[in-house]
Amino acid sequence: MKFFIDTANLNDIQEAQSLGVLDGVTTNPSLMAKEGITGKANILKHYVAICEIVDGDVSAEVISTDFEGMVKEGEELAALHPQIVVKLPMIADGVRACKYFSSKGIRTNVTLVFSAGQALLAAKAGATYVSPFLGRLDDISTDGMNLISEIREIYDNYEYKTQILSASIRHTMHIVNCAKVGSDVMTGPLSAIKGLLKHPLTDIGLNQFIEDAKKMNI
Ligand code: E4P
Repeated sequence: MKFFIDTANLNDIQEAQSLGVLDGVTTNPSLMAKEGITGKANILKHYVAICEIVDGDVSAEVISTDFEGMVKEGEELAALHPQIVVKLPMIADGVRACKYFSSKGIRTNVTLVFSAGQALLAAKAGATYVSPFLGRLDDISTDGMNLISEIREIYDNYEYKTQILSASIRHTMHIVNCAKVGSDVMTGPLSAIKGLLKHPLTDIGLNQFIEDAKKMNI
């Protein structure tokens, strides 16, 4: 399973990259706003800065909600850097734009997916990635992980090439469960990725080894 980090924070991206396990980055307008990035030129520059840190796909989301606007913005984003993937909302014009970009060989990530039917549409439109938001489904007492399993089953039935990019990951067990049900990619915060490292027996065992190594007088 590929690991993407879901942030526009350059320090977090750098830290995840230095772990050696990072495969890409996803951003969205909320994450960009959180970093205080304003103005089109700065936004575009920030996407390029992200691409220069990570060796993998970087999703940059369009703001427009009409087909023509999405095409214009998406083409501009895709031209920024070869690692950019155009992120499009799961609405009718977004599906149309996805089909348009896939016919031009421009990679896409269809976002704000909350049902298997929406994921089926994204695959038919040739999306490179589909982003089901599992955390936000869990937030409203719906089984987010079940959606990932449903999409896996549907995509496997028809051998769709669209990659399942499990998004809205909130914690470490989301990552482990995504891997168990066969998600192709997960995107989550640095804290959830670093959580995978933790086990008290590892710490206890390492302390013991360090203490015993002192007895060897190396
Ligand atoms: C996905 O691409 C989104 O950026 C993201 O995962 C949304 O997560 P949130 O529900 O934590 O905002």
